[in-house]
Amino acid sequence: MNSQPEPQLLFNRQEIEAAVKKLANEISEDYQGKNPILIGILKGSFVFMADLVRLLNFPLEVDFIRLSSYGRGKESSGEVTVVQEISTQIKGRDVLVIEDIVDTGRSVAFLMDYLKKKKPASLKLCALTDKPSRRQVPVTINYLGFTVPDRFLVGYGLDWDEKFRNLPDICTLGDNE
Ligand code: IMP
Ligand code: MG
Repeated sequence: MNSQPEPQLLFNRQEIEAAVKKLANEISEDYQGKNPILIGILKGSFVFMADLVRLLNFPLEVDFIRLSSYGRGKESSGEVTVVQEISTQIKGRDVLVIEDIVDTGRSVAFLMDYLKKKKPASLKLCALTDKPSRRQVPVTINYLGFTVPDRFLVGYGLDWDEKFRNLPDICTLGDNE
């Protein structure tokens, strides 16, 4: 019972709200008059995406994709596969991928490549957080909320072993200094 690590505050809900608003403004400007499909990467992006879409003032559709994940630990296995496919035809459509965090970059690099093969009209990436110190594969993030230090993050959708997704703030787990 006592072995669960204690989350430490990194960004509070007001800071997150301000960052999401700023992203929504940028995205709204770029997608005026378009009808994009926003593809959320499950499960981590669900809280961010729910907040983001409600601030977007143009017609859009949402879909989700699930990639193979970290499993129980904090380290990526390195190999990425699609566990749950999108349910929309994206050929010729404007596609915006929504991600919670870009870490090594492997998941998102794989996904952008994977989606590109389906021939969307445009393909961009919006990430709530970016941990550039951990990057192993180059990734272009078109819309970014926060650059974060090399710490394990939880809350606002982000999990550790499926826990803490429901925290309203973004926290560090505080055991990897
Ligand atoms: P990447 O492929 O190494 O960039 O990892 C991407 C995925 O790993 C993210 O979508 C998250 O689900 C997970 N991940 C990476 N870093 C963290 C973190 O600090 N907290 C929670 N999940 C993370
Ligand atoms: Mg994720």
